[in-house]
Amino acid sequence: MTVPGPETYGERNADVYDEWHADLDPADAVRCLADLVAEGPAGPVLELAVGTGRVTIPLAERGIDLRGVDASEAMVDRLRAKPGGDRIPVTIGDMADVDPGGDDRFAMVFVVFTTFFFLMSQDEQVRCFSNVARRLLPGGRFVLECLVPDLARYQRQQSVDAHRVDHDHVRLVAVRHDPVEQRFDGQHILITDAGIRLAPVSMRYAWPSELDLMARLAGLRRRDRWGGWRREPYLGAGSHVTVYEKPA
Ligand SMILES: C[S@@+](CC[C@H](N)C(=O)[O-])C[C@H]1O[C@@H](n2cnc3c(N)ncnc32)[C@H](O)[C@@H]1O
Repeated sequence: MTVPGPETYGERNADVYDEWHADLDPADAVRCLADLVAEGPAGPVLELAVGTGRVTIPLAERGIDLRGVDASEAMVDRLRAKPGGDRIPVTIGDMADVDPGGDDRFAMVFVVFTTFFFLMSQDEQVRCFSNVARRLLPGGRFVLECLVPDLARYQRQQSVDAHRVDHDHVRLVAVRHDPVEQRFDGQHILITDAGIRLAPVSMRYAWPSELDLMARLAGLRRRDRWGGWRREPYLGAGSHVTVYEKPA
């Protein structure tokens, strides 16, 4: 598969994104992020790859000063059309640059739902950490929610899962794994009587230990690693929520 541009995902997914992720409840993430904001320094908060505002809009409703960056106009148009979405300043750009416009320093920067891995090379991921560190206030946090790669899912470096099967549609997810580049290239395939709809998604995964090293290179230290937004113990599988901190 060709390397997608940062705007490709949004262009191909914006019109179905909220519908296809309607069963993802952001409540635990919002509660945990709000608690982290309350514990940290005062200042604005930035979501990288804010998308349609699934997490940022309910977080802003708690009175937190939110900003966003996203590569896709199509995704951000959806955010702006939602109640409260037009009050969140969003800059169109690549999250590796962490450039929300202006010179603001942030109390917290976060990126959820494994979207950090949409940065398609180790260089871009390292650059993102370094730019986040530059933008954080002393004592500020960088919070990531990422999957833990489960390579046992892939037989001959590929997998196909039936995500949904209903009387009028089937949704399949086909993925190829590239162990050299640490890449997953996938397609969500919606099959209905009307035809076939493809929604591609590619990511460059990193192990938690690799993320820790990127943080150290950027001058951040790991403060917490949980197995989820309820601060469950991290057991090495599934996903993790990790909090890095800029020394005060
Ligand atoms: C899976 S969605 C996540 C959206 C939102 N954070 C959420 O949790 O619902 C991925 C988002 O990442 C954005 N994106 C992908 N690559 C990006 C990049 N390099 N820089 C900024 N945004 C990017 C897409 O446009 C899309 O809005």
